[in-house]
Amino acid sequence: MRKTITWAAAGAAMMCAVAGGAGAAESLSQPELVKRGDYLVNTVMACGNCHTPMGPQGPDMSRFLAGGFHFDTPGFKVTASNLTSHSTGLGDWSDEEIKTAIRTGHRPDGSALAPVMPTSYYKILTPGDLDAVVAYLRTVPPVDNKVPDPVYDGAAPPAFPGAETPLMEDAQAADPVEKGRYLVTIAHCMECHMTREPGAPLGGGGLEIPGPWGVVVSANITSDPEHGLGNWSDEEIVRAITTGISRDGKELSPPMGYPYYAHMTPEDLAAMVAYLRTIPPAP
Ligand code: HEC
Ligand code: HEC
Repeated sequence: MRKTITWAAAGAAMMCAVAGGAGAAESLSQPELVKRGDYLVNTVMACGNCHTPMGPQGPDMSRFLAGGFHFDTPGFKVTASNLTSHSTGLGDWSDEEIKTAIRTGHRPDGSALAPVMPTSYYKILTPGDLDAVVAYLRTVPPVDNKVPDPVYDGAAPPAFPGAETPLMEDAQAADPVEKGRYLVTIAHCMECHMTREPGAPLGGGGLEIPGPWGVVVSANITSDPEHGLGNWSDEEIVRAITTGISRDGKELSPPMGYPYYAHMTPEDLAAMVAYLRTIPPAP
């Protein structure tokens, strides 16, 4: 049986991303740290795909990261939070409190965030990259927007599978496949590209994702030659990730964050592809 999740987020246009270096972020100066955080938040991690409100013309950049998307699912009704430096956002939170929320999914009062916030994938973040994300969030202009309080109906649903990854060392990122695994994890690709069934194959696809676009079924992105990406060229995979054009030229549906990924560096995209090639084939 397939399980479904409800997505309110549609693919979005994003233009302010700045590329940063990889790894060794703890040795960066403050401006370099902010630049690295800008890159992570606005490209590979695509926080705005959920946390920036969507207008008819795409994301409402006058309310950048000010919250807005509402997820109404069995188990919880939650709204992506205001991440700006306003007091209705993260203005009164300490750096440590923000880091704890991102990595463990717990607010300062101890309450657990609904797992639609992909914290289980953020456990892998290197301390340097976590510092960078927080340093960057501090620079996001304040927007006064109090999002509705979350409603949790009964027990919190289980966290997403396949993501109990340990913290990564900066040094590991020297290996392109390891770096790709890191990037695919923090991009939470597998949140969509596998079902919630126990034992579901990594990257096997098949998750039904309903939203304003109808119901879309996520693709198999394993190395399977017939059903996955095994026979795709590197260029075809990068084109799909960054422009949403499939191998056969078909335009892919939201909610994958193509416009965010489009601003990733060629090196990071190549590392992602190198890692995807190592995922065991699943039919
Ligand atoms: C798939 C959608 C999604 C993505 C991607 C996402 N978030 Fe969230 N986030 C949410 C939702 C929804 C909530 C609120 C959950 C709740 O109320 O239980 C949330 C809550 C939070 C909170 C807690 C704030 C508060 O006021 O309680 C922080 C901090 C946060 N997100 C930061 C981030 C950062 C930083 C990124 C990118 C690295 C990110 N999120 C990516 C959906 C997302
Ligand atoms: C929010 C959910 C979501 C996330 C996150 C996501 N994807 Fe997707 N992706 C989809 C869906 C749904 C499709 C199929 C769209 C369609 O068929 O129109 C897809 C399609 C693809 C395709 C095209 C496959 C084909 O056969 O056409 C590739 C490649 C891909 N995703 C890779 C990735 C990678 C790599 C990441 C992480 C960087 C990622 N996706 C993150 C939902 C997601």
